[in-house]
Amino acid sequence: MRYKILTAEEAAEFVHNGENVGFSGFTVCGTPKVIPVAIANRAKSEHEAGREFKINVFTGASTNDSVDGELSRAGAVNLRTPYQSCGDTRKAVNAGIINYFDLHLSELPQKMRYNTYGQLDVAVLEVQSIDDEGNAVLGTGIGNAPTFAMLAKKVLLEVNEGIDPKIRGLHDIYIPLDPPYRREIPIYKPSDRAGVPTMHIDPEKIVGIVKTNVPEGGHPFAPSDETTMMIGENVCNFLVSEMKAGRIPSSFLPLQSGVGNIANAVLARLEANQAIPSFEMYTEVIQDSALKLIESGKCRFASTCSTTFSTEAMNEFFANIDYFHDKVVMRPVEISNNPEVIRRLGVITMNTALEADIFGNVNSTHVTGTKMMNGIGGSADFTRNAYTSIFSCPSVAKGGLISAIVPMVSHLDHSEHSVDVIITEQGIADLRGKSPIQKAETLIENCAHPNYRPLLRDYLKMAKGGHTPHTLRAAFAFHETFIAEGDMSKTDFSKFC
Ligand code: COA
Repeated sequence: MRYKILTAEEAAEFVHNGENVGFSGFTVCGTPKVIPVAIANRAKSEHEAGREFKINVFTGASTNDSVDGELSRAGAVNLRTPYQSCGDTRKAVNAGIINYFDLHLSELPQKMRYNTYGQLDVAVLEVQSIDDEGNAVLGTGIGNAPTFAMLAKKVLLEVNEGIDPKIRGLHDIYIPLDPPYRREIPIYKPSDRAGVPTMHIDPEKIVGIVKTNVPEGGHPFAPSDETTMMIGENVCNFLVSEMKAGRIPSSFLPLQSGVGNIANAVLARLEANQAIPSFEMYTEVIQDSALKLIESGKCRFASTCSTTFSTEAMNEFFANIDYFHDKVVMRPVEISNNPEVIRRLGVITMNTALEADIFGNVNSTHVTGTKMMNGIGGSADFTRNAYTSIFSCPSVAKGGLISAIVPMVSHLDHSEHSVDVIITEQGIADLRGKSPIQKAETLIENCAHPNYRPLLRDYLKMAKGGHTPHTLRAAFAFHETFIAEGDMSKTDFSKFC
């Protein structure tokens, strides 16, 4: 091999204070495991010696604990984008220690190719293998690895010998030309391939390789409970009624499903529902329940950026990898989440809201309007370009102390123009073709928890004027009551009358 073998500590010496560093992967999958830990340790010793050491961290989406956890705990992160879901990073973001900006996932690679955030200094990429010409087989998640490999001045590789070589062929690597030279992305159905199975890296830029042998896979998902099962059932009922109405063809349309426990539970219900025919997925992650759908044949094909399975499901995936070769393709996030392709394919999108307001605006990111949870991720890449966009969430959080349906969202991620349907365990609010007041009535009666319906009706009654009535002084009374008293249901609108 023409490349130098390094220890993780030697590799970390190539990363300097203030540099822009791009990490491969998407969720825990495909994310480097040992070099980031060595960078974090280097930061700690630099800090002990009284020297500054912070880097700017660019990724595909969320990462593993080696990237976000270790680097955040070491105080080694200056800037972070486009998405995170790590408790320690979240704390540092909300304390103002990490400068985080939340971005649509599909936008980052193009912005980086135009040097919007400065040049990428180092790419730290996990691969399954690389040949002497610089053709690398990626692992179980891609993220922005191909663009980072192209842009970085230096590339550090982790070759993970724990990844089954049979993964070769599951990737479709395609980087579009930048405007004004971009052509259509030639994907006309989820199973189409536009690129090549390997990622090219200029061998001259590869400063070294660290060998690892770390199994992939994450935490198991929370088991479905009565609430998530009812949400899933309502999503199924909505899709079936759309088929009956002729708005979804009997051959069905590709589905996208977001991240997290609720998304996992919704897909599990699709599996069980006999009235839903087999379908394809065009999505950014496939989680455990999607694996089951593919195994059962209910999902005929899945296009994704990452196979975000629990350790158990990942073992199952690799044990049967021959079966999955013509049923799964992994793409860079710029393509898995590409607005042009999503609109062309007619994708039905299913994402999760933290809260929605009575007029159909959705907050997916900020708790009580100020505290960042994770980020917008790819939810708007899909929602804004959907054939039909669905948001689901339980009608209440924290044992009923928080209503997910509020008078006005405390932060806006998805405006009413992009949100077609909201679903909770209480029911379905189809907002299409409805005026703001009609939307409010439907959302309150169909989706809000019964304990909160009288309060929301009171708000709508007192809301004044115009096309979208509000009483601005009272619009955040739910949130203010929660902050003051720990329980939204104690809101008293009479004091605003
Ligand atoms: N206010 C405060 N906290 C709330 C809340 C609200 N309105 N709604 C939910 N929560 C809390 C829950 O109580 C839970 O807290 P816990 O971890 O302490 O138990 C947490 O948020 C997660 O909620 P959960 O119900 O388990 O849902 P989830 O795992 O499906 O996550 C999101 C929900 C919204 C946080 C998650 O889907 C997300 O980050 N979405 C944005 C990005 C995205 O959609 N990506 C997919 C694009 S393809």
